[in-house]
Amino acid sequence: MSKITVVGSLSTDFVVTADKRPRVGETIFGENFTTTFGGKGANQAVAAARLGGQVSMIGTVGSDLFGKEIIINLLNNQINTTHVETVTHIPSGSAHITVVDGDNSIIYIPGANDEVTKEQIIKAYPVIDSSDVVIIQNETPLAAIEAVIQTCFEKGIKTIYNPAPAKKINSALIEQVAYFTPNESEFKLLFPALTLSEGMAKYPNKLIVTMGSKGVYFNDGEKEVHVDSYKVTPLDTTGAGDTFNGAFGIALTAGLDMIKSIRFGNLAAALSIQKFGAQIGMPTLIEMKESEFYEKEWDIK
Ligand code: RIB
Ligand code: NA
Repeated sequence: MSKITVVGSLSTDFVVTADKRPRVGETIFGENFTTTFGGKGANQAVAAARLGGQVSMIGTVGSDLFGKEIIINLLNNQINTTHVETVTHIPSGSAHITVVDGDNSIIYIPGANDEVTKEQIIKAYPVIDSSDVVIIQNETPLAAIEAVIQTCFEKGIKTIYNPAPAKKINSALIEQVAYFTPNESEFKLLFPALTLSEGMAKYPNKLIVTMGSKGVYFNDGEKEVHVDSYKVTPLDTTGAGDTFNGAFGIALTAGLDMIKSIRFGNLAAALSIQKFGAQIGMPTLIEMKESEFYEKEWDIK
């Protein structure tokens, strides 16, 4: 069983659906309001756990009801929470999401997610050390992210760095990660001077650009490779990228090559966007295998 550690954010998503977004100063009627579990870190951890990974989470919540429920949700998904810390002086993280026609816009309030420290990472070294792959994103402080990447690099542990949301980072960090997975808009913010093709050629077999329904692109050292998405009708694309990253990690640690791992990630993401909420639609391995698109040669146990 793959051992996957996710270092990252834990949030409650406050989601409203509406048929349009309000203009400045305008009040409109929406359709629904729901709270769901989210946070890019938690989402990636749940995606990997549903697919059979042995997952540990490193993160921080507040001492409020939201924080308690976030931990229960991780446990319900068979995720180890030994290194989820609770802080008392700041509320749990939250995301305020508007979904219109299946597409989302998000205001993220880090709260306790901003309290993930380098010291916390050091305390979690034993868990990190025994991981097959470590996944990080950008909703926790850069000092912690850097500490994770550096220690994994020194110890030869593979990292998947999903730079979402985009933040200015030291490019030395990219050298040290095994996989770097921005979406198209994050790529543009991170590499304003490079075209997609130039960026992918600069980081062959590492820079993987996810483009939603347009699929995924990378450079294999000789040429650009395009891996198509699965055509489904999305209900809510929130967390699609997170599902991709968690599933991609599972496939890699199961020994699949890059293209197969991307296809596996794409299918998990395609299934997830057919249900509302970031985590609700994330497939189990059984659900993956039941899909008409599942490929026998993936052979993940
Ligand atoms: O990637 C989607 C996630 O990002 C949501 O669950 C929300 O928490 C946001 O921050
Ligand atoms: Na979904």
